[in-house]
Amino acid sequence: MNPMLKKFKQELAKLIKGDNQGQITFKSRTVRLKGYDYLVVRAVVPDIPEILDIERAVYQGKTPWNFANFEEQIRDKEKTLYLVVRYNDEMVAFAGCDMKYAKNEAHITNIAVLPAYQKLGLGQMLLRILINEADNFGLRKVSLEVRESNMQAREAYAFAGFIDWIIKKDYYFDDGEDAIEMVYSISANKRRDMMVNGSK
Ligand SMILES: CC(C)(COP(=O)(O)OP(=O)(O)OC[C@H]1O[C@@H](n2cnc3c(N)ncnc32)[C@H](O)[C@@H]1OP(=O)(O)O)[C@@H](O)C(=O)NCCC(=O)NCCS
Repeated sequence: MNPMLKKFKQELAKLIKGDNQGQITFKSRTVRLKGYDYLVVRAVVPDIPEILDIERAVYQGKTPWNFANFEEQIRDKEKTLYLVVRYNDEMVAFAGCDMKYAKNEAHITNIAVLPAYQKLGLGQMLLRILINEADNFGLRKVSLEVRESNMQAREAYAFAGFIDWIIKKDYYFDDGEDAIEMVYSISANKRRDMMVNGSK
């Protein structure tokens, strides 16, 4: 894309965002799921060691993203939104996305829930919050990549309304596994909701 046009689109997106500081804001909140209260807050750099602990817990001791990767994302408050979920002061989940204003989409770069807290609805809750934030910025879709073999995550995304979009061959550096790009269309889901619920 022409650099001038790209810059114009980015500035226009910032104006639509209505935030003259140029930063994405997020209001901390308590969310009740199945009778338990979880605190959802924006991630800060001192959260990173606990985020890495969750990565180790879900990726067999590995940390696909390191401290510096998370730090870069969390500090980039104009373009990214990273959230952490706490239950009784313990971090139990995190998720983050990149608002790609010029592409009119939000890209979820990370999401993980501690094994003991999986299948309780936390993943759906985080996806819903990120979709709503993307919608608030006027973005049209939310995308993510997932390992082809990661059926648990693919089912969770499908349940949230994401559809398989394209296969990215040999996507992962470590073992060359293919990734499936999944996409949630904000506009199509809104249209569907309006047809189902009426246009109130
Ligand atoms: C992917 C992940 C984030 C999902 O989080 P989660 O909190 O376990 O997900 P949820 O509980 O919100 O929803 C997922 C499950 O509930 C189902 N579900 C959620 N709400 C439901 C409802 N109301 N009715 C029926 N099913 C429901 C989903 O289909 C899925 O079911 P199943 O796996 O039991 O068949 C989590 O599994 C995880 O951290 N995995 C390891 C890290 C990882 O792979 N991250 C993704 C990298 S791309």
